[in-house]
Amino acid sequence: MDLFGNTDINDARLRVEELTKLIDKYNYEYYMNDTSLVSDYEFDALLRELIDLEKQYPELKKATSPTLRVGGEVNKTFRQVEHRFPMLSLGNTYSIEEIEEFESRTRKLIGDQPFDYTCELKYDGLAIGLTYKEGVLTQAVTRGNGTVGDDITSNARTIATIPLQLQAPYPADFEVRGEVVYPFDAFEEMNRQREIDGDEPFANPRNAASGSLKLQDSRECAKRKLQFCAYFVMGNDLDEPIMQTHYGRLEAAKRMGFQVQPYIKVCRNIDEIKAYIDYWDTERWNLPFGIDGIVIKVNQVPLWDRMGLTAKSPRWAIAYKFKAARVSTPLIDISYQVGRTGVITPVAVMEPVQLGGTTVQRATLNNADFIEKMDIHDGDWLLVEKGGEIIPKIVGIDMEKRTAASRPVEFIRTCPECGAALVREEGEAGFYCPNQDGCPPQIVGRLEHFVSRKAMRIDSLGTERLKMLYNSGLVRNIADLYDLRKEQLVGLSSDDQSASIQDKGADNILAAIEQSKQVPFERVLFALGIRFVGEVGAKKLARYFGDIDSLMNASEAELAQVEDIGEKTAQQIYAYFQSPAHHDIVERLRAAGLQMKSAATKVSNALEGKVFVVSGVFARFSREEIKSHIEQHGGKVSSSLSTKTTYLLAGEKMGPEKLKKAEKLGIPIISEEEYLEMSGQVRARTGLFSS
Ligand code: IVH
Repeated sequence: MDLFGNTDINDARLRVEELTKLIDKYNYEYYMNDTSLVSDYEFDALLRELIDLEKQYPELKKATSPTLRVGGEVNKTFRQVEHRFPMLSLGNTYSIEEIEEFESRTRKLIGDQPFDYTCELKYDGLAIGLTYKEGVLTQAVTRGNGTVGDDITSNARTIATIPLQLQAPYPADFEVRGEVVYPFDAFEEMNRQREIDGDEPFANPRNAASGSLKLQDSRECAKRKLQFCAYFVMGNDLDEPIMQTHYGRLEAAKRMGFQVQPYIKVCRNIDEIKAYIDYWDTERWNLPFGIDGIVIKVNQVPLWDRMGLTAKSPRWAIAYKFKAARVSTPLIDISYQVGRTGVITPVAVMEPVQLGGTTVQRATLNNADFIEKMDIHDGDWLLVEKGGEIIPKIVGIDMEKRTAASRPVEFIRTCPECGAALVREEGEAGFYCPNQDGCPPQIVGRLEHFVSRKAMRIDSLGTERLKMLYNSGLVRNIADLYDLRKEQLVGLSSDDQSASIQDKGADNILAAIEQSKQVPFERVLFALGIRFVGEVGAKKLARYFGDIDSLMNASEAELAQVEDIGEKTAQQIYAYFQSPAHHDIVERLRAAGLQMKSAATKVSNALEGKVFVVSGVFARFSREEIKSHIEQHGGKVSSSLSTKTTYLLAGEKMGPEKLKKAEKLGIPIISEEEYLEMSGQVRARTGLFSS
């Protein structure tokens, strides 16, 4: 290291190699063997050191660096790539008889040559194909239509169980296929967080896996705890003896560093296959991830070519799909839950019943529409199903058990929490409680949102503590948090006395509240919890208006001018700031010292009073960069052309619609060059946005 803290490149190279080896090893042990060789803290420190060295010496950053796992690359769209070998799907069936037919057909087709089968779990996730050249991951592609898929390499690199560099020996150029799955615990944790953050939760782990792989920002994908499980190895020159059976190929894959299910089994005949299916039909509920069936493959690879393909699936493999487990059980009662936004969710309380390995006694009835469409009566026996997912679903009514005297269920008319009369708007599927400021679960829900990670990030206030604060009467709205004093906090305890706040806990809470005063304006805006105003919307509003006063004084029409803010959202924002109670809250937050202004540093006022619509692709900047540039120079950015637009800033590949509309409205169209001149930036042609 020199006097200024710089490492000599040769030292750096050695250290990079050393760090890479260590981190890869720790990762492998952690994910494949469940062993932590170092603390999270030490691990992060090593990773940080490697990131810093790679920043200092970009030439030392390899395509296999474990720092790629934290993401960084952003894909606006995913490149379409053709699969080297088509990505086939499997014939599938729910019937054991058809599995018997498959087995006898296979035996006939193969003749007297000895062979056997592999049986393995059929993951309920998303298929991808990984290409490795000289042991390095070069490309990851989704199945797509089987012929062409999306290039999701930068997201795939963030998945800890996808090796970036294989352990030798490995084929020079080959492909590993497998499934990206979202383990149940990680899925539930993410969905819980999404609800608190005001994001729509995913319907099931499969959708979540697929949504995650399509995230544009690979850093976000890195935060999802996805896993990759290999189930197929293919290539042109896989001649080694181990590569002659499917089982051997997966063994080889395991040695190269892939995660392969330990449950794969070689079966010699139909009885062994049926025993495997039977076993997993009940055992599947104990797995930490979802499966939807069993895949049976002929084990001997050279036989595959001989057996060939049908229209779209190979003759040498078949999938047996599990039927959803289903029972019928009497409805005892309906309980009603009130969500953060006041939505009422009816929940069926049923006679406890065994289903797919667990006892089920509650299942959601979604909303009033669902109850009406199903025509659920008091005392009905409900048909409950559990498919590949963990959550049981009500799929129908056992009509044979309905009694003549039964009456349709009547939905409640008043809020079970606060007694307010429920409201159902035209065309809405359900009821909601309108008493936003007096209904306890709505208030606690809003507090949860306010302190959540993407909002004010007051980590030391979890749901339990927020409930304590609410129940004690100390906190009835978000502004009350900033009036809390230590002596009020110490000694507070939960209803069941199981938790209480001690001296140190109180200090932590107050410190976190104090720190939240530095949270930027855009996140404060998001934290307010205005309906339909998400993280992105809040950012755009903050950028457009610059401070809370301009936002509060904006008309509905002006709000709707902002990019990504539709009419419905504009209405909600406008209505929110019309309420004197909300004004009061904002004033108290302001007085407490929260950020009520965008920190975006104004570079000049060159574009003051001008409203731009930005469209197309630009030579020097990304669209986002050009937008912040406009704002840094005092201009505004809007999403749609109107009479208020000053200029249409047009890049390459702009749609003809926009052009036509601009001409019709008489709005001047300017190029990137003209824009730069206008903003007084002609000098700085290059490196405008390099930090
Ligand atoms: S083998 C040509 N094995 O099921 C054979 N597929 O339609 C390729 N799947 O899209 C597939 N677990 O995503 C195979 N152990 C497993 C699997 C599996 C899940 C999925 C795969 C494929 C679909 C079959």
